Amino acid sequence: MSRITRIATVFAVGALAVSMAACSGATTATAGGSSANAATIACNVGITMPTRTLERWINDGAQLQTKLKAAGCTVDLQYADNKVDTQISQIQNQIAGGAKILVIAAIDGTALGPVLDTAAKQGAKVIAYDRLINGSPNVDYYATFDNYKVGQLQGNFLKDQLKLDSATTPITIEPFAGSPDDNNAKYFFSGAWDVLLPYVTKGTLVVPSGKSPKSDADWATIGIAAWASDKAQAEMDNRLSSFYTGKKVQAVLSPNDSLAIGIEASLKSAGYKVGTDWPMITGQDGDKANVKAILAGEQSMTVWKDTRKLGDQVFTMIQQITKGATVDVNDTTTYNNGIKVVPSYLITPEVVTKDLVQSKLIDSGFLKASDVGL
Ligand code: BGC
Repeated sequence: MSRITRIATVFAVGALAVSMAACSGATTATAGGSSANAATIACNVGITMPTRTLERWINDGAQLQTKLKAAGCTVDLQYADNKVDTQISQIQNQIAGGAKILVIAAIDGTALGPVLDTAAKQGAKVIAYDRLINGSPNVDYYATFDNYKVGQLQGNFLKDQLKLDSATTPITIEPFAGSPDDNNAKYFFSGAWDVLLPYVTKGTLVVPSGKSPKSDADWATIGIAAWASDKAQAEMDNRLSSFYTGKKVQAVLSPNDSLAIGIEASLKSAGYKVGTDWPMITGQDGDKANVKAILAGEQSMTVWKDTRKLGDQVFTMIQQITKGATVDVNDTTTYNNGIKVVPSYLITPEVVTKDLVQSKLIDSGFLKASDVGL
C-alpha cells in the first residue's frame, strides 16, 4: 500500500468504444466483454510480478509502472519473492486500495481463483501478464510472447546446429523443463520436444540420464521448481556424476537463462572446457549474465523476448480498457485456462546468437554494451 501513488486521475474520458487497433491483422475484443458504449474505468492499476531475483521481471515491472505513471495513472507495483501467498495478499491489498485493473504475472497459475472472484465483484479487469492464470472465469485478457514458438526456436536451433538429419552417430542430450506451477513451462517444453522427440525415438539423440519425457504431457517430471538456478545446477551435477562416466554431454535443452546459468556452472565444475568439449546450450530472456556467457562461448543462444514490446502492448490494453474501447488481441484459440479461452495478444520471440548480440540487443537499446563487457 505504501507504494500507491494516490493521484485521482482518470486515464481518459471517452465513453464510446473507439477502436485503437494499432496492428493490422489484430482482432479485437470489447473491453470487459460488454457493450460497445461501456463506462470508462479509472486508471488505477495494480501490478504484481513474481520475483526480483530475475532481471526480466524487474525490467518488466519498472517499465510498465513508468509508462502508466507518466500517463497519470495510479500505480502499485509489487514483487512477491516467488511466494504464492504473498502474491495473493498483494492482490487483495490492491483490490482494497481501489485498483480497477490488475496486471498479474502469476507465480502459481492455478492459485488465484478466489482472489480474482473478489476482483470481479469490485468490477476490476484482469490482464494475465506473460503467464496465463488458470481455472478462473475472471481473466479478461492475456498478453504474452508466443510461448510454443519459444520452445520451437530452441528445438530447431539444436536440430540445425547438431545437424540431426545427417548425424551418423548418436548425440547425447540432457533436457530440462521450467517450473511445474508456471503455465508457460509446458508450452516451452512442447515447442522444443515436438522437434526433438522424433530424433530421440530414432536414436539420433540419446539421453543417458533417462530423464527423457515419453511425451509432451510428461514434461513436469523434469521441471525445475521456481526456475531456480541452484536447483538446475544440482540436477545437472547429479546427472553428470551418475550417468556420464566415460562419456560427455553434447547438448542441453535449457528452457530459459536462469536454468542455463546453473547448468553452465555445473559443467564448469565437472571440468568441461569451451572449445574442447563444451556442449550446445539453449536459453531464453537475454539476461546480462547469459549474454556474457554467449559472448564467452558458454551458451549457444538465447530466445530474446523484447519485454519492452510486452509492456507497450499491456499499456495499450490498459488505455483501451479505461476508455471502454475494443481491446486488441491476435489470438482467440490457443489459451484455454480450463474455464474459457482467454483473448490473447502474442508477440513473436527471436533467436539471439553471439553474432546477433550487437545488432539485436545492444543497437536496440535493450542492453548497454557495458552491461555485457563490450
Ligand atoms: C517467463 C520466462 C522466464 C521464466 C522464469 C516464464 O514464465 O516467460 O521469460 O524466464 O518465467 O521467470
